Amino acid sequence: PINGLKDRFNRSIDYLRLSVTDRCDLRCTYCIPKGFRNFEEPEHWLSFDEIARVVGAFARLGTRRFRLTGGEPLLRKGLVDLVEQLNVIDGVHDLSLSTNGTQLATQAYALRRAGVKRLNISLDSLRGECVQRITGSNSLDKVLHGLRIAKGAGFERIKLNMVMMQGVNENDVSDMVAFCIQHGFILRLIEMMPMGVTAQNQGFVDVQPILARLKKQFNLQESHQMLGGGPARYWHSEDGEFTVGVITPMSQHFCQTCNRVRLSVDGTLYMCLGQEERFELRPLLREGCTDEELEDAIRAAIELKPEKHEFREQPEKIIRFMSMTGG
Ligand code: GTP
Ligand code: 5AD
Ligand code: SF4
Repeated sequence: PINGLKDRFNRSIDYLRLSVTDRCDLRCTYCIPKGFRNFEEPEHWLSFDEIARVVGAFARLGTRRFRLTGGEPLLRKGLVDLVEQLNVIDGVHDLSLSTNGTQLATQAYALRRAGVKRLNISLDSLRGECVQRITGSNSLDKVLHGLRIAKGAGFERIKLNMVMMQGVNENDVSDMVAFCIQHGFILRLIEMMPMGVTAQNQGFVDVQPILARLKKQFNLQESHQMLGGGPARYWHSEDGEFTVGVITPMSQHFCQTCNRVRLSVDGTLYMCLGQEERFELRPLLREGCTDEELEDAIRAAIELKPEKHEFREQPEKIIRFMSMTGG
């Protein structure tokens, strides 16, 4: 494709996030509510071949970046096979994975071998009781073990996603910084979006003052290197030993430069994390549509992409959980 996909606001859409399951072994308060049962029926899950068809269509339309998410993507059986299948599709240049890390110890090497380039791992604190409070489970040691294994598996980059929560992990930043420097991980401070249950009952933490503190402490300069395909902005220390990224949907939204859409496990394309616009691809796929029809449907979907989210203006608007659309 010469021009690739453009939306009504002249944004290039070249990043597809694929949620391969809406299930998870954790219950992070900002994501899936405790006791939530309303998961997608297996017969509605796109098969690997169906996912590969959608990826192929996006790739022909100029998309180059693909990220596997969930729920917890590593709970989808055979995910390594899907990675292999996607990685050989023409045009798939950057295939990455966002995970909670609990299954990395057994899967990291196979994922790397199958073609996952970069990993983003959720870790909101290094204190067991704090992680327990956030995720509802005693998962810290498992994740730390997974991280150790992943570090040896040769990924191009590993980032730790830290969602900041008032009065929960605000004092954990220094420890996370030290840990990231020690292991060569990139730390990302994320402002919580009002999607899950606590998330809607709890204010977000503005990460700008935290960044300002770190800038001073480490004499950070802004990075211009492309460290990912996402909305984060990065700063690094002079010696390059420490890099921190901030994701600020609340204090400074980045919708003007949004480049992505999301495919959920049931084959719905969601145009924005914070809006309802969507387009169902599953019926088309299951009616045996042609490649051309699939590409036309994707173009039509992109036309629906809204200008921006309204998390600040209307925090109650979206009752969908993050686990459904995949972060
Ligand atoms: P890379 O930049 O490629 O490393 O990935 P990423 O930061 O896009 O992916 P990741 O899954 O690690 O997401 C990190 C955080 O960014 C999560 O909290 C996401 O919810 C948030 N995020 C990603 N894309 C968007 C977006 O389009 N809008 C908003 N508001 N938040 C987003
Ligand atoms: N706000 C911000 N980030 C969130 N994530 C999940 N729910 C939210 C939320 N409500 C993050 C997870 C994971 C990434 C994919 O999305 O921590 O790292
Ligand atoms: Fe699971 Fe990730 Fe949601 Fe936590 S944020 S419950 S790890 S999908």
